[in-house]
Amino acid sequence: MSVMLQEVNDDNMASKNKLLPALLLAWYDAHARVLPWRSKPGETADPYQVWMSEIMLQQTTVATVGKYFMAFTTRWPTVGDLARAELDDVLREWAGLGYYARARNLHACAKAVVADHGGRFPDTEQDLLSLPGVGPYTAAAIAAIAFDRPAAAVDGNVERVMSRLCAIETPLPGAKTEIRTRTLDLVPADRPGDFAQALMDLGATICTPKNPNCLICPWMSACRARELGIAETLPVKAPKKQRPVRNARVFWAERADGAVLMRRREDKGLLGGMLEFPSSGWATGRDQTDLAPPYASGWVSTQKQIEHTFTHFHLVLDLHHTDEVFEDLPANQGDWRWVARHDLAAEALPTAMKKVAVAMLGSDVFRGY
Ligand code: ADE
Repeated sequence: MSVMLQEVNDDNMASKNKLLPALLLAWYDAHARVLPWRSKPGETADPYQVWMSEIMLQQTTVATVGKYFMAFTTRWPTVGDLARAELDDVLREWAGLGYYARARNLHACAKAVVADHGGRFPDTEQDLLSLPGVGPYTAAAIAAIAFDRPAAAVDGNVERVMSRLCAIETPLPGAKTEIRTRTLDLVPADRPGDFAQALMDLGATICTPKNPNCLICPWMSACRARELGIAETLPVKAPKKQRPVRNARVFWAERADGAVLMRRREDKGLLGGMLEFPSSGWATGRDQTDLAPPYASGWVSTQKQIEHTFTHFHLVLDLHHTDEVFEDLPANQGDWRWVARHDLAAEALPTAMKKVAVAMLGSDVFRGY
């Protein structure tokens, strides 16, 4: 008896694993978002464009990426063109997307594709993983979308869809392996690239974090979480650990013409290569408020404070200023520059620094950006 039941369940599972991708692909054929990096029906995607879009979409929204994607692929139409570009030109074109390590990796990856792979992107997940800036999600996405490999590209959207479909109540990140396995079970041999993009679109447009639009979902009748009435509570996330608090001082120096003193952070590490207002260090575990300002002067507190939460710590910045201006800053203490007030908005400032600028200059400083 139990053997028979097992067989029935296996049969059900197999037919479900065929039916669900078919339903999703039919929905995708009717409702796929039109995105600049997507190939038209019947055309194969250009691996260079797929890769470029996936790198840009890491931590950036689809809406923002569009114009950067067009600018990059117009200026550097092939991976060879990008590999031959000057890094500084790539970084300048990247301004506004933030996280400059991604732009450096983009350039390094283009060079690696030319130097190690004859100018063609490798077509397996494993080989793609060896490229700079390409992690497990991106490798799977490129393998599926550009090369129609049956890979499971699981990003945050897909985690949400799958945890709901299967009513997985194990908190993330613990549920990651189960979600990946369940996704891989559904990847069809035919059109795995469209399946990957369809899942992303489903998560972005219907299976949204709040108020999922279950009534028009192609998977409505199969969704276990909907059946149980718990869709909106999934995925469950493990409670965040209490973050340590770090304190530091920001030193705000403003010239008569309104330009503000800034420095570029080191390429490596947190906010690598991004611009910041000078501050005492943010080092772990001790109060850094006594560390040195960029030059000796009568720095006084503005009585203003901003707070910003990073992944591993919470930062509290006390804002100080001085009326004295030193034009010649010691070159060995950083990559300094005076940034004109009207250029501040166009610079790719980290959010913490935007908060500093708003506290000092008012929210108009970023109007229009
Ligand atoms: N998010 C990440 N990659 C994507 C893609 N290829 N299409 C739509 N949304 C995405």
